[in-house]
Amino acid sequence: MKLGQPLQLGGHRLRNRVVSPPMERNYGTPDGRVADPAVSGFQPVAPSPVPFRGRTPRELTIADVEELTVAFGAAARRCAEAAVDVIEVHAAHGYLIHQFLSPRTNRRTDRYADPVRFLADVLQQVRAVAPHAAVVLRLSAFEGVPDGLDAIATLALTGRLPLHLVDALDISAGCYEAGEWIVQPGEVDRGVLAPYAAMFRVFGKPVGVAGRIVTGDTAEEILASGAADFVAVGRALHADPGWTAATLAGVLPRPCIGCNQGCIDVLHTQQPIWCLVNPGAGREASRGAGRGASPGRRRVLVAGAGVAGRASSTCVTGYGTRIHHDRTASSRSGEPTAPESPRPTPPRPPVTGCCFSRPARSSRPRPDHGRRA
Ligand SMILES: Cc1cc2nc3c(=O)[nH]c(=O)nc-3n(C[C@H](O)[C@H](O)[C@H](O)COP(=O)(O)O)c2cc1C
Ligand code: SF4
Repeated sequence: MKLGQPLQLGGHRLRNRVVSPPMERNYGTPDGRVADPAVSGFQPVAPSPVPFRGRTPRELTIADVEELTVAFGAAARRCAEAAVDVIEVHAAHGYLIHQFLSPRTNRRTDRYADPVRFLADVLQQVRAVAPHAAVVLRLSAFEGVPDGLDAIATLALTGRLPLHLVDALDISAGCYEAGEWIVQPGEVDRGVLAPYAAMFRVFGKPVGVAGRIVTGDTAEEILASGAADFVAVGRALHADPGWTAATLAGVLPRPCIGCNQGCIDVLHTQQPIWCLVNPGAGREASRGAGRGASPGRRRVLVAGAGVAGRASSTCVTGYGTRIHHDRTASSRSGEPTAPESPRPTPPRPPVTGCCFSRPARSSRPRPDHGRRA
């Protein structure tokens, strides 16, 4: 099983081929998050004043950009001092570095008009202060909007980077205007981004890939095909934190069904995320949640016989617990309800030349959550 084999990343040996990609969960305290401008009073900043969701950011001055570059270095230094093994530089998903890379959002005429300049400077800073850490670069293979970077353009930009400073590439996709490519809905094929990750092998670096990798079979197929060297497993680890151990042991983990109902759809409401199939998610520290339930005689009322209710029942059985399942309380169908903010199912951009238009929302097919996962 390739999934269980170690992987050398720079000077560090990873125990297996599974990594957890960055996942904001809104578990921060009121002091621990970036505040909305409506609260903080700060105007957002960006490479160019391109409006986004009704707000126009202030264009960063050259001094601002230099300060930010140094700030990336300072963050990497703190990681090095904390003996962090792997540092991921995030140049994907429409965040700041990606905004410099994309012609949609970088309309500058100064030296940062060169789309790779800021990222190259950041990589220099990070490597200089963290020489022993493995540096991984997260990239969106394509933006997923008609005027955005396609895979060919992203490959060309990547080829202009100082890649000798990078130990691996971590391939994702999308930007905030095409969020369905960042967090792919359940209708999308498992491992959908693997062909794009394969394109980045030309740089001779270890390549990782995210995107609906929910089963060991999918992960193994991707690794065996040579499309990637490691897999970034996000929601499946949220659905079952024991995913890797179970998969490597040949046991089926509790499956992420790609519904997005408890995770990404909740994230955008600024509330702590949860999970439709993992009642313990976000409650790991409290007794009795999920698999950590204490043994003993208890009576538990599970209200609702939908996916979440059934998952809850599964989690509390086996501990001498008597379960009363109230099927009258809410959903009886066993089907998840439709997401609050449905996204259109994106068409698959061609592996070469990825400019495309997204379909109208009305063309979104009926969800097929449980059966696909
Ligand atoms: C709730 C949630 C929060 C996420 N937050 C981030 C984030 O902060 N940074 C990031 O680069 N990607 C983020 N992602 C995207 C994941 O890293 C991952 O690329 C994506 O979910 C696809 O992988 P998966 O199908 O295994 O979940 C997030 C995804 C989810 C579901
Ligand atoms: S809420 Fe749905 S998509 Fe999100 S991790 Fe749980 S099962 Fe997966």
